[in-house]
Amino acid sequence: MSLMLAKYQINKDNMKHFAFPFALCIAMFLRTGAIAQVPGTSVDGRLFDTDHRMVNAHGAGVMYHNGVYYLFGEIKKGRTWLVAGQKWEDYRVPAGGVSCYSSKDLKHWKYEGIALAPVKGKLENDLDTGRVIERPKVIYNSKTKQFVMWVHIDKKDYSYSQSGVAVSDKPTGPYRYIHSVKPNGQMSRDMTLFQDDDSKAYLIYSSEDNNTMQVCLLSDDYLSPTKTYSRILVGRRREAPALFKNKGKYYLITSSCTGWSPNAATYAVAGNPLGPYKEFGNPCKGPGAETTYDAQSTYVLPVKNGYMFMADRWNKLDLEKSNYIWLPLTVNNGKLEIHRN
Ligand code: GAL
Repeated sequence: MSLMLAKYQINKDNMKHFAFPFALCIAMFLRTGAIAQVPGTSVDGRLFDTDHRMVNAHGAGVMYHNGVYYLFGEIKKGRTWLVAGQKWEDYRVPAGGVSCYSSKDLKHWKYEGIALAPVKGKLENDLDTGRVIERPKVIYNSKTKQFVMWVHIDKKDYSYSQSGVAVSDKPTGPYRYIHSVKPNGQMSRDMTLFQDDDSKAYLIYSSEDNNTMQVCLLSDDYLSPTKTYSRILVGRRREAPALFKNKGKYYLITSSCTGWSPNAATYAVAGNPLGPYKEFGNPCKGPGAETTYDAQSTYVLPVKNGYMFMADRWNKLDLEKSNYIWLPLTVNNGKLEIHRN
């Protein structure tokens, strides 16, 4: 490249013609360079495990523990049906519990089994297959030496709006379900967990009938909500939260509320997990950005040299056939960028 530069420096007229392609070249080099250095960031569609079976882990989250990545997600299996009498497209599949996969390189995923099993024929039970078990996230508590899972628990019409908590002494489970709660009496639907460097952990959830999000500090053992919580993105109707930290700032990617149909993601930034958050636009760039490339955010994983944005490409008419999009995410001068190509 320096040779090419030397050649073009001779003729200033040439320089004009050269400047744009050169800049483009540098930009493309930097982009592809970044992608090549971040493993596992190129899932676009189906994802297979090491037994060549489709990965069944939707609304997923990843926990990195002792050199291993553990992927947890909703098991979607069986016929999709439309719940009658709803004002919105309430497509459902039996709640299949939570799956776990492990990987050392984010490319080869070994199926570790069902981390949180559903219950059959007990509709009053939170984990019954007729209920909703969505967006599981797991973090490790080094004081109690327990792995703690939080998950959205609901009824098929989403009127229950609670967060469930389960624990295990092994990362892969099985997880023992404790119960579900409404944090501080507040509704909680789409949710995620965030564990800060100071070991404090937070539950972030769509609340107040999806109108406003809330962030609630968890107790030291991560098993209960504390009274410390804040209302964020007030009246903005956001869901599918994915929170991560970069250089002391907290970045929250969310979607709009359009059920299983995709829409444009946006992000917000704060100096504290509890907020206040300042809203920015869509982090996705290029073709398909207006629908998050036909997907909906679920998690942002810190990886070597960057972040991996994880999203669900839902198939609302056949939820079992939903798949994934994992893309590199960069933070440049506090601005988020996600590119598909
Ligand atoms: C979405 C939500 C999903 C699921 C779905 C049900 O908006 O993000 O997790 O709850 O609605 O229609």
